[in-house]
Amino acid sequence: MTVKYFFAALGVGLILTSCGTQESEYDRYYEQGYRDSVATARANAPEPAPGTKTPTAPKAAAEQPKQHPGAMLIAGSDCTACHNNQQKLVGPAYVDVAGKYEANDKNREYLIGKIKEGGAGVWGQVPMPPHPNLSNDDAGKMVDYILSLKK
Ligand code: HEC
Repeated sequence: MTVKYFFAALGVGLILTSCGTQESEYDRYYEQGYRDSVATARANAPEPAPGTKTPTAPKAAAEQPKQHPGAMLIAGSDCTACHNNQQKLVGPAYVDVAGKYEANDKNREYLIGKIKEGGAGVWGQVPMPPHPNLSNDDAGKMVDYILSLKK
């Protein structure tokens, strides 16, 4: 082997080793500095113009705004057959009930009793049927919701 070949072989070897230590695209992508610069660019990205609709994934049930527990109890009971939030049906609209009664302990007690025992004569002669199986707690939540509808 001549000296010439020796250096040629050494040269090839050096090229191969230097290639081996060079970072791949993949390594650079995950380099901390690169990630930081992406994070900064994202943080400094301009806000979309008002009115721009960004498609959003449908929210998971848990993320959706919580409904008032009283509203859910009313929706699950027979109340909806005779009452509506805004309009008089068989019974008065809940906004009208809310308008008639100030939200205080006395009125709360009275309305809980009325929902549980039923009765007539306040809004007309049609009676409100009793709900004896309703707990005070649940009736109270319904009353809280109804009185929260005050305009
Ligand atoms: C069959 C029809 C009917 C159903 C079912 C019904 N209501 Fe009534 N509700 C009435 C009527 C009629 C009145 C008016 C009673 C009166 O004039 O005293 C009334 C009155 C009320 C009032 C006002 C009470 C007052 O003295 O001012 C509230 C509050 C009320 N209902 C809540 C409920 C809730 C909550 C439910 C479900 C758990 C319910 N109602 C189910 C017919 C109904």
